Amino acid sequence: SEVDIDASAYEAGEHESFMRKEILEQPTSSQAVLRGRLDERFGTAHLGGLDMDARDLRAVRRVKILGCGSAYYVGQMGAALIEELARIPADAEAASEFRYRDPVIEPDTLYVAVSQSGETIDTLLAVQEVRRKGGRCVGLVNVVGSAIARECDGGIYLHAGPEVAVASTKALTNMFLGFALLALQLGRTRDLSIADGKRLVAGLERLPAQIEEVLAGEADLVEVAHQLAEARSLFFIGRVRGFPVAREGAQKFKEISYRHAEAYQTSELKHGPLALIDPEVPTVALVPRDELTERNIGALHEIDARQGPLVVITHAEVDLGEVRARRIDVPRNEPELDPILLTIPLQLLAYHAAQHLGHDIDKPRNLAKSVTVE
Ligand code: G6P
Repeated sequence: SEVDIDASAYEAGEHESFMRKEILEQPTSSQAVLRGRLDERFGTAHLGGLDMDARDLRAVRRVKILGCGSAYYVGQMGAALIEELARIPADAEAASEFRYRDPVIEPDTLYVAVSQSGETIDTLLAVQEVRRKGGRCVGLVNVVGSAIARECDGGIYLHAGPEVAVASTKALTNMFLGFALLALQLGRTRDLSIADGKRLVAGLERLPAQIEEVLAGEADLVEVAHQLAEARSLFFIGRVRGFPVAREGAQKFKEISYRHAEAYQTSELKHGPLALIDPEVPTVALVPRDELTERNIGALHEIDARQGPLVVITHAEVDLGEVRARRIDVPRNEPELDPILLTIPLQLLAYHAAQHLGHDIDKPRNLAKSVTVE
């Protein structure tokens, strides 16, 4: 209604869009999900809302994460965190697919539903399917009292505040942090050492200021975003921890710029997409400082040799050698937590590309903030 539109315009304040407002809120909104949940002394997290004691947490043999869209991609980041920190097999699946394939529900699997709105119908029906078959499902949900939150056995509220733009930014960041807390608590009931627990608690405490540091570099990204906006098609590549980041980056870019953006594992480049690389097809590559850096740089050489334009999101310590690329450095945290810092510049690239193209950033065509009907 008219009234709603006026109210929205008022709330966006001096920002051109809700998306930009929400991107810039992240140094603050990210603190809210951590508040009161970190235990420095024992290097762990306290998630009372899960309603699971140490014995319940110990009994988890697998973790299955369910969500749609960006929530699904951040679910993949979350699965990686849980496997790394807790050494429990974990994976994410699109809730929209899960509920249609007559899934096997196991009593020692912990199901985790991820949703900003808490109203996405596919995710809600997936939760109901799990619970109907006696599975335990917890929620990572932003909207308090929403349908998914009510349907779950317990959960972690994300406390990101209201998110209006269709493309999720601050809620997604808090989803990642929610997974980090869950992985930490699961890990500390198992083999994650107190030293590693403390290292991660300290890392989480540093993150909001580091997010702010990335956002402070916004002006440097505008021109490269405009260049990417001119391409009809582009690739986003990453490996292992970086691959879900690439998927989320491609998703954001296509949602609001309407450019074809495809994510690929850097390792799979030579098994297909390399055929498409030429001066017209840019690649955004995630190259953090980790055990795969050298291999990732090898792939950059392959792209560069075919005159593919490159934008590399990386760390200052990484030497790209002879590779011709526009580099964007982000601060380092602990390697397990780096994915969220690599995600922030991708939000800004998508935003400035869409703005350059004159699109309605908060309400991209054909998309809804939450899909509540089948
Ligand atoms: C819609 C939106 C996406 C969002 C997805 C899941 O498709 O366009 O941006 O990621 O729903 O929404 P949820 O509220 O469940 O996180």
